Order: sequence, then structure tokens, then C-alpha cells
Amino acid sequence: MRYLVTAALPYANGPLHIGHVAGCYLPSDIFVRYLRLMGRDVKFICGSDEHGVPITLRARKEGITPQQVVDKYHAMMRDSFQEFGISFDIYHRTSDQVHHETASAFFKTLYDKGVFTEEESEQYFDEEAGLFLADRYITGTCPKCGNPNAYGDQCEKCGSSLSPRELLHPHSQLSGKAPVLRKTKHWYLPLDRMQEEWLQSWILSKEESWKKNVFGQCKSWLDQGLQPRAVTRDLDWGVPVPLPGHDGKVLYVWFDAPIGYISATRALSNNWEHYWKDKDTRLIHFIGKDNIVFHCIIFPAMLKAHGEYILPENVPANEFLNLEGDKISTSRNWAVWLHEYLKEFPGKQDVLRYALCATAPETKDNDFTWKDFQDRNNHELVAIFGNFVNRTLVLTAKYFDSKVPARGELLEAEKVCLGALHAAPQLVSDSLEKYRFREALSHMMDLARAGNKYLADTEPWKHYKTNPDYVGTVLNVALEITATLAYLCEPFLPFTAAKLRNMINVPERSWEEAFRHTQFETGHVLGEASLLYEKIEDDAIQKQLSKLEATKSDREAERAAAAPADQTSLKPFREVTTYDDFSKMDLRVATILAAEKVEKADKLLKLTLDTGLDQRTVVSGIALHFSPEEIIGKQVTLLANLAPRKIRGIESNGMILMAEDADGKLVFVQPGRATREGSTIS
Ligand code: 2FM
Ligand code: ZN
Repeated sequence: MRYLVTAALPYANGPLHIGHVAGCYLPSDIFVRYLRLMGRDVKFICGSDEHGVPITLRARKEGITPQQVVDKYHAMMRDSFQEFGISFDIYHRTSDQVHHETASAFFKTLYDKGVFTEEESEQYFDEEAGLFLADRYITGTCPKCGNPNAYGDQCEKCGSSLSPRELLHPHSQLSGKAPVLRKTKHWYLPLDRMQEEWLQSWILSKEESWKKNVFGQCKSWLDQGLQPRAVTRDLDWGVPVPLPGHDGKVLYVWFDAPIGYISATRALSNNWEHYWKDKDTRLIHFIGKDNIVFHCIIFPAMLKAHGEYILPENVPANEFLNLEGDKISTSRNWAVWLHEYLKEFPGKQDVLRYALCATAPETKDNDFTWKDFQDRNNHELVAIFGNFVNRTLVLTAKYFDSKVPARGELLEAEKVCLGALHAAPQLVSDSLEKYRFREALSHMMDLARAGNKYLADTEPWKHYKTNPDYVGTVLNVALEITATLAYLCEPFLPFTAAKLRNMINVPERSWEEAFRHTQFETGHVLGEASLLYEKIEDDAIQKQLSKLEATKSDREAERAAAAPADQTSLKPFREVTTYDDFSKMDLRVATILAAEKVEKADKLLKLTLDTGLDQRTVVSGIALHFSPEEIIGKQVTLLANLAPRKIRGIESNGMILMAEDADGKLVFVQPGRATREGSTIS
């Protein structure tokens, strides 16, 4: 059995944050380290996703080339991953020549096989910039939720996936102008046909083996019915469409990016085809939940259409990690950046690995807080794992000159402990095979807990004078637990594992070898003990919290500076309404003939209006802003056909339209100059 494990290729347009790590890179690394320890044949693949519109937009904004953008972030991400102990076999990149060749050839194969449908359609074009506006080059109002800043491919507010033509009031990100429609040709992957032919039944066959969140999302895509997907774009950054006469067109980033897994494997090994084309390979994609459709539906559709490739066996996607109760966001700088963490907490890679694994968003979104991070370090890594190991080694040094003492008779306490020890590897392994990383980690920690409790119960430091043999037995057992932990923690805490192996003077071993004989030979000489973890003080945590706080206030200050005063508290648009609904409203000009206060209601005025067609009473909540005298004779806009309603016993027949002025004071929405009563407003 051979494994090919991929981790989503991160976009090279910003640094990595803990959401990326917890969602995808840490679980995949734990899994791969585990497979390697089990002696399985595995390749672990990743790289930078260097195409797509956001990268070109960023380049424009910074006045540099897209290649310069990706060069910067590719290096940064590669280095952070490495320092954090994410053990890819290769970290490749999609601007590499090998990738361009691989993706081109892949497209060409599908084209030659007649897989694609070709379609000429009208797409938005920026006349000033002379460019078609793909995806994020265009923004407008979301037709589903009214968000005025939705992108051509997605609304980030309501999560809807969109096409540019669906946006209301579209405008170009380049010129700011409204775009025009122009004809252009593109190639489509006919997912609708594939759904019928095989995709649906293939996905349905995964109900038991895929995670619920993953299967559920796929199922709902299928239920909506898959649509053909364009696999090309009018853009000048990406893998050029490999057909003559089509300059200015590239492969859609989501077409080329997953092929990046194949390119990276090619760049890694001459034997790459084994990993991609042999039925004995298990292909496993680790991703975050926003990538599910691409890895469970679109990429498998591409692989199958090509014909030579295997399909993924599993796609253990995680949900999202939030930060201090708020969504992590690169644009809002609401994140813990991996490169900053590595700088500010040197040598503490395993602490973050531990905290992120323990709170990983495996089945639902989860929250990272600095307080939890501190507690996990101080109360778990320091107080349990570190404390146990340290006591064991310090006592062995003190009483037995750092040589493993002989084991005598085993009492109940020893038997309980050794029982936990022998059960632990299988428990951890079973959980990992099911992609339950939190559970696996807690099984590992349970062994440390059992060891810590064993020392606390047996108190060897109290018995050396009276019963040195028993103390020898206790430490012998405690050392066996320590050695087991040294191997068992390796997938999760690789830095700890290496340090601990040194401290007990044992070599790297496969799990099979390590757990076959966990007992030390009497007299085995231990290495030098040092602390595995140290307490994280409140001020270090406070510093991080203040940093986040500062981000928030910077953001508010920026927002306030960017918006005129009266716009800072603007409400978002309401849901879109239809022309039909709008045309039902009868808006008329009316004049206020009389006004009086409503008894026992501070806010209400009773108005008598001349509507041109009748005189009527309207009760309006404006008494705090106007005295009755000052408004008599004013012209107002009246919603005239609103159903009558009794307010404080008075029947009100309509509603007057009001707005807030720059100081937040109410004003009437009025015609610009005197207008005949009853004029309609449309
Ligand atoms: O969501 C993302 O960050 C994408 N760059 C992931 C791509 S995964 C794969 F298909 F390359
Ligand atoms: Zn929306």
C-alpha cells in the first residue's frame, strides 16, 4: 500500500496564519509522520498556488509584477512551513516550468478527447483597461444578501458562489467604471453530464468513509444539480491555453492548481506515475472546507476525464478556526501569523502544534484564544507531560546516576500504568487512521497523565531511604512510559520527540520497532535532562492580545478616516426586492395641514395631511425632532397605500419618509421645490 498525501496549495499572496495551519497543514503533517512511523510508503506534497486574479490585483496595487508577488510569498511560506516542522517531501510552486508543462498537457489531453464543451458568451469587459474582467476584477452588489462589495465569483458576506453577470451594479476593479458586455470563447467541463454518468454514484459511495461535513457539502452540490464549469479565463497571468490563436487566455486557477499536486510529484520523483496511476495508491487530500467542491467534485471529474489517474480515496477537510471569537481575515489583519509566532515564540513550535491540534476544527468551526493557548501550555504540556518526564529523569539521575534501575516485583499501581502503556499506541493509531487528530492527541496525553499520576501516587522521592529497590522499580516503569511517549508524541510534537530521544538516549525508530520492546535494559545510560517546556507568563499573552487589540483600533481609525462622518454608522442594504414589490408602493407628495402632540407619547405627532385626493391622519414618530408649529405647511413624501394601523388609539393612514442629516438629525424627504399634492413619486 502506497500513500500520496496532498495539502492544499496556499495562495502566494499573503503569509500563512494559524487558520491555514489548523485547517490543513498540521493534520496532514501529523498523518504523514504517523504513516512514516508505521513504515508505509508515502509522499507528502504541497506548494504555492501562484496564479489567480487576487495575485494580479495585488501586483497592480503594489506596482510590481505578479511574479515578484509570488516570489516573495512563496519563499516566506516555504520557510515558515519548514521551521514549523511541516514535513513536506516537496514544496513546489505553480509558476514553475514543470507545472506549466504538466497543466498544459493535461488540458490538451482533455481537449483532444473532446471532453470540453466550447461556448461563446458575453462577459464583462473594461473598455478603459482593455481587459475582460474575470472573477475578482469585478465587484458589485450581491443579489442574494445585498452586500455592496461582492466579488464576481463569490460574496464573502453570505458565502454564495456567484458569476459576474449575477452582480447588481457591477463595476471594474481596474477603472472603477461600469463594464460592458463583449463576446468571448471559453471551454467548459460538463459537470452536469458527468454527474449523471458516474460522479453522483461515486460520491454517494463515500457516505460512510468521508467525514460528515465533507459528504454533506458534496451532497448538497449534487442535489442542486451540477453545472458546466468554465476552465479558462481571459487573463494574462497563469498557464496559457495551449491552443493556437488564443492569446490572452489562461487556464482557470482552480483548473491548474490541483494539477499542481501532480507537477510537484513529478518534480519530486521519477517514480511519480506510481503514485498517481497505480490502483494501489491511496490519494488523500487535506484541505479547508472552502476547498471541498474543488477536491471532491471538480478535480476528480478532471482526473477521471483524463483517464489515467486514480481518484482520491478521502478528503478529510476541516472546518474553520476563528480567533478570539472573530473570523480570521487576512484583509482585516485579524490573524496570528505563523512567521510572527515563530519569531516571537522561538523554540515553541510544539506548543502551537499542541494547542492547534487540541482545538482543531475537525467537525465544526472552533475558536483559538491566547488564554487557551497559555492554559494548554501551562496546565498540560508543562504540568503533565513535561513534569512527568522531568521528575522521572531528575530522580533517576539523583538516585541511580542516570542509569536505568532494575525492575522488581510489580504491584497494582505498576500494572495499571503498564496496562495504559501497552494500550496507548493502538488507541492513537486507530484514531489517526480515522483522521481524528484531537482524539489521537488526547490518547497520547492520557498516557502522560497516567505516568504523572503514577509518580504522584507512588512518591518515589519519599521512599529511597527505606526502599531503594521499589524506587528503582517505579523509575524503571516511569522510564518505560517516557520512552513510549517519546515515540508516541512524534507525529504531534516532533521537536519534543527529538529532544526526548536525546534525553533518554534512544535512536529514531519505527513504531513497530519502538513498541515491540518498550522496556529498557537495566543499566542503559540516559542522556542529559533538560526542561521540555516552560511556563508562558501572563505578560507574553497580554502582548499578543494587545497586538490584536491594536489591529482592531487601527482598523476602526482607518474606517473612520476613509468614510465621511455620517457614513460610519450606515446600515447595510436590505435584501434585494423585486420590481413588482417596489411598484406596489404608492409614494405621493403631501402637505402637512396640522400637527399636534399625542398624549402620553413623547415621540409621536398626529399629522393631518393634504394628499391632493383626500385629507388624512398619519401618526409619525418625529416629536423629539420637530415641534408641531415648525412643520405645518411642509411638503413631505408619503407612503400612501400602507395598510391603516391604530397607534395609541388613533388610526394612522400611511407613513412619512424621513432621512438623517450629517449630524444624525431627522429631516423630511421632500421634493426639491413646491409640488402639487398627490404627485406620484417613482
Ligand atoms: O484556497 C486556497 O488557498 C487555494 N489556493 C487552494 C488550492 S488547493 C489545490 F487545488 F491546489
Ligand atoms: Zn451575499
